[in-house]
Amino acid sequence: MTNPILDIPNIEPRVQSEILESLAKAEDLLRSHIVGKYPLVIETSRHLVEAGGKRFRPLITLICSYLGTPNENCIKAAVTCELTHLATLYHDDVMDEAPLRRGVASANNRWGNTVAILTGDYLFAKVSALLAELGPEAVLLQAHTFERLVIGQILETQGPKEGIDPLTHYLNVVADKTGSLISASARFGAMLSGASEKDKEIVTQFGEKIGIAFQLADDVIDIASTSLQSGKTPGTDLKEGVPTLVTLKVMQSTDPRDAALKDKLSKPITDDSIVQQTLIELRNHKALNESREYLHALANEAKSLLSDLSDGPTKLALEGLCTALVDRTV
Ligand code: IPE
Ligand code: IPE
Ligand code: MG
Ligand code: MG
Repeated sequence: MTNPILDIPNIEPRVQSEILESLAKAEDLLRSHIVGKYPLVIETSRHLVEAGGKRFRPLITLICSYLGTPNENCIKAAVTCELTHLATLYHDDVMDEAPLRRGVASANNRWGNTVAILTGDYLFAKVSALLAELGPEAVLLQAHTFERLVIGQILETQGPKEGIDPLTHYLNVVADKTGSLISASARFGAMLSGASEKDKEIVTQFGEKIGIAFQLADDVIDIASTSLQSGKTPGTDLKEGVPTLVTLKVMQSTDPRDAALKDKLSKPITDDSIVQQTLIELRNHKALNESREYLHALANEAKSLLSDLSDGPTKLALEGLCTALVDRTV
């Protein structure tokens, strides 16, 4: 998996090389922060750190730090965002019974659910320690963010209440489970670099919107990418019966030719060969392209939120990021 910053069009070369340097520092801090007396939990915690990942949230923090003066605290915040994300991946893979993550066996696959859950908890402890160095405003931002993220995951598990449109429910879930942390990642960069109140608010809104688009792209990836590309097992959402934009669009179809597919998608698909067959059907279904169009439109909305942002490297990079993100396959 390549670092997404290398694909951002329009980014100033000076800013790109500074951000790459800061990302390397964030990487060192991330690894040096996962230390402790118990070898097993260090091994399980480092397992996914070392497996890679796109480091998308730290990247957003660092880009937004150019709204003020980038500094060491921005790097610390970038690490807290990645660590929070990482901890949620350990828990999410237990919930989704996912066997593969970042191209390696998931922690639950390798060590079992109990160890995977406790490793996630351990990482949250590490996040708290780092946040304490950033002061109460940072701690509060993290607390609110994490509350939303957890509620998003619970609401996804619970499904829509009677009478609530499934697509509306789904978009709320996505905003909470994924938009919240990407929004906070942007806000941290602005807040800790001393950006203006106005710029801070704009990137908070922007982060939320692009975060939703990021998750919709992830839903498309679950269907359209290979595990070599994504580092995850395609069809995990189908197996778990987790509705996504693509499957919700199929469920809305009134075309009688979709009846059999709708029936399959109405519950978790337990048989592997049926998962594979359903993936093929979905890859050829117009719902996949409609979903891509929907996420392109969201990315454009995110881009237009930037029109009032102060001119400078952050604005250019975030605009470029919108373009780079929409067609991602990893
Ligand atoms: C996966 O996030 C989970 C989502 C919220 C979509 P990423 O796609 O950022 O995963 P990594 O960090 O690159 O592994
Ligand atoms: C999980 O969404 C989002 C989190 C808050 C972790 P997904 O379940 O779609 O994420 P992946 O596909 O497993 O990475
Ligand atoms: Mg998952
Ligand atoms: Mg997914």
